[in-house]
Amino acid sequence: MNLMHRRLCSSAGWADKVARLLSEDLEGLDLGDDVLEIGPGYGATTAVLVDRVPRLTAAEVDEASASRLAAAYEGRATIVHGDGTALPFDDSRFSAVVCFTMLHHVPSPELQEALFAEAYRVVRPGGLFHGVDSQPSLRFRVLHIGDTMVVVDPGTLPARLTAVGFDDDPEVRVAHGRLRFTARKS
Ligand SMILES: C[S@@+](CC[C@H](N)C(=O)[O-])C[C@H]1O[C@@H](n2cnc3c(N)ncnc32)[C@H](O)[C@@H]1O
Repeated sequence: MNLMHRRLCSSAGWADKVARLLSEDLEGLDLGDDVLEIGPGYGATTAVLVDRVPRLTAAEVDEASASRLAAAYEGRATIVHGDGTALPFDDSRFSAVVCFTMLHHVPSPELQEALFAEAYRVVRPGGLFHGVDSQPSLRFRVLHIGDTMVVVDPGTLPARLTAVGFDDDPEVRVAHGRLRFTARKS
């Protein structure tokens, strides 16, 4: 992430916004007892999840962020330095896999699809893959100058999720500049 982005994601304002939006987003969604978060970054989303699920693990590709979070959440969550496109977990381990505002940081559609395939592999039958990601706006584009920005197309996302094995007709919605999806593994 570029400097402007790092400042935003580590700010109190972002943490407050995430706390509000994520609580609304997760309303009515049963994530089960053992949840994996991919891409926790500075932990704004982790802070919400850790109080909502019995067991939380997070995989963060940036080593410094992973170390910082591991220290902050010691005893409350397991934070690993790991890549969502090659997860260091057993098949069917988790009741749900979630990712928030991170897919556009995965540098190509192919790598995003590798991440979808890994989410499918590590989630149990009956489990969910749920995420939220940003859609383009002027502010979003400015924030990503010199940074990775591979926006997820809501029109093609259902087919990309079912191609890796998720059930037909995953829920995909766009509202207020945010893409929200939920896919299930039978
Ligand atoms: C914009 S931050 C969002 C962090 C947090 N989810 C939030 O909403 O505040 C995106 C994070 O995803 C991480 N990330 C990007 N690609 C990843 C990958 N392949 N596996 C795990 N983490 C990844 C980045 O290092 C960064 O920390």
